[in-house]
Amino acid sequence: MYKFEIDAAAPKSELYAELVRSADALTSGEPDPIANMANIAALLWEYLPDVNWTGFYRVVDSELVLGPFQGKAACIRIPFGKGVCGTAAQTGETQLVEDVQAFPGHIACDANSASELVVPVMRDGTVIAVIDLDSPSLNRFNAEDAEGIETLAAAISGRI
Ligand code: SME
Repeated sequence: MYKFEIDAAAPKSELYAELVRSADALTSGEPDPIANMANIAALLWEYLPDVNWTGFYRVVDSELVLGPFQGKAACIRIPFGKGVCGTAAQTGETQLVEDVQAFPGHIACDANSASELVVPVMRDGTVIAVIDLDSPSLNRFNAEDAEGIETLAAAISGRI
């Protein structure tokens, strides 16, 4: 059994530092990328308050394909350049979206999603996946969340 001590009142920087430590410990020595993505999606779900989707899209043959996640069933394939995830994959840049309705081409997988954070996972200079977080609250994510998930992405890019 894995039990994590999560202090929801802790500053975001501490929460993400703890999340990255847990993700590192859980994936250390495990070569299976699906198992590692599944556990990281579960950790994101458990650690982060006010989210309704946490998970991965993987780059497969130049498009994004749904990976392990927590939340409602989601769209399976997203072309590069489409939606928030496809934009992150195409540009290699984090997408911090305060209001998904205001993002041109946003792909609505869960009607409850109001804001979104998508961070590319890079390996050897190319995007191999994106980490996607959705929230039912407007403006849920800020620069601290983006930095925390970018640190996570760098820490696990060799394990997925
Ligand atoms: N909203 C995303 C699609 C994925 S779901 O949020 C899980 C997008 O616009 O790319």
